[in-house]
Amino acid sequence: MPATIDLEDLGLDRGGHLLVEHALREVPIGGELTVSGRDPALTIHLRAWAREQGHAFRDGSVLVRGSAATLRWTGAERAGGPATSAIVDHPGSTWGVAARGALIESGGPVVRFDYEDRDLVWSDLAPRLYAAAAANQWDPATAVDWAAEFSLPGDVEAAVVQVMTYLVENEQVALIVPARFLGRIHPHFREVLQVLAVQAADEARHIEVFARRAGLRGEPLGVSGAGGRASLATLLEEPDFALASFLLSVLGEGTFLNLLGFLEVHAPDPVSRRVTQLARQDESRHVAFGMAHLEHQGALDPQLLGRLRGAVERRHDALMDTAGLNQGVFDALVLLAAGSWQPADIARGYQAVDELQKAMDDGRQRRLTRLGFSPDEAAALSALHTRNFM
Ligand SMILES: [Fe+2]
Ligand SMILES: [Fe+2]
Repeated sequence: MPATIDLEDLGLDRGGHLLVEHALREVPIGGELTVSGRDPALTIHLRAWAREQGHAFRDGSVLVRGSAATLRWTGAERAGGPATSAIVDHPGSTWGVAARGALIESGGPVVRFDYEDRDLVWSDLAPRLYAAAAANQWDPATAVDWAAEFSLPGDVEAAVVQVMTYLVENEQVALIVPARFLGRIHPHFREVLQVLAVQAADEARHIEVFARRAGLRGEPLGVSGAGGRASLATLLEEPDFALASFLLSVLGEGTFLNLLGFLEVHAPDPVSRRVTQLARQDESRHVAFGMAHLEHQGALDPQLLGRLRGAVERRHDALMDTAGLNQGVFDALVLLAAGSWQPADIARGYQAVDELQKAMDDGRQRRLTRLGFSPDEAAALSALHTRNFM
C-alpha cells in the first residue's frame, strides 16, 4: 500500500515540509509518498521543494524519495564525544566550532586554531576548576561593603592608593594574557576555554574592585613605574601558551598569592582587606590551572622543563636594566605593615615585607619543584623571577 500524507490546510511554506519529511523517513529510497492537502499552492511548492531536496515529483502529488539527503551525511564524522573522556588528541581544522560530539557534515570551512593538540592545553583538572570558578563568581557591588566606615591618615590612604594603582596595572595584564590565548585554542577543548574565560572574568572584577578602592576617597591614583610596565610587557609579548602560563600563572600569580595574603593581613581598612581577600581566592584557581596543565604537558614532553627554564632566563635578561618593582610600591607596603611612622614600627614593617619576599620565594621554589625542577634549579630560577612580582 503506497504511503500517503494529508497536510489538510497546512502549506509547505508554513511548516508542512516537516510533516512531509517525517513521512518520507518511513519510505525507502525510490519509494513513493502521495501528498494531499487543500493549500492552493501545494503542488507548486512540492515541486520546488522536491527539486531542492533531491526527490523526484510526478502527477502533481507523488514524491519519489531520492538519496541526496542520505548521501549528504555519508561522509560525516563524529567530533569525538561530549564527555571529557571522548576528547580526541587532534581535533583538526575541519571540525571548526562544532559542538564536541556533534555529527559533522563534510565540506565545511577550514578553521585553524594555533593550539589543536590536546597535550598542549589540556588538564584533567580543567572541568572541576571551571565548575568551581563558575560557582564562586562574586558580585563586586555586594561582596564588598563599600560604605564601611573608616578614616586613615593622608599618607596611609596614599599608600593604599599606590598599592591599588599597582594592582590594577598587574590585573590588566592578567586579564589580557588568558583572553588572547582563549581565542587561539581549539574549542573542542572547551573546558580549557571555559576556565580561561572565567579567569578573564575574575580579572575583570579584580580590576574593578582595586580601581574602586583606589578612588574611594577621591584621591588621585598613584604612580606607574617604567620597570613594572617593562616586566608586564614581557608577559604580553610571550606567544607560547605553556611559557606564558608558566610566567604569568605559576610564577606571577603564584607570587601574587603571597602579596594579596599580606595585604589581607596588613591593609589598614576593611575595604582593602576584603577586596584583596576576594582576589586571592580567585588567584589560587588561576595558579592551580597553570600548574595542572604544565604538569600534564611536562609528563609527556621531556623538553618542557628546559623551555620553561629558558623563558625565565630570557625574561630576566630582558629586564636586567629595569628597576623591577617601583620603589613607591615597596615603600607603601612597608608603611602599611608598619601602621605608623614610629621608627620601631617602620622597622617591623620593613621586616614584614622582607618576610613577604621570602615567602614568595619559598612558594615559587615549591611550585618549580612540583613541576620537576631539582631544588637547586628551583632556587636559582626563583631568584631570577621579576622583582615586579608579576
Ligand atoms: Fe587577578
Ligand atoms: Fe589571576
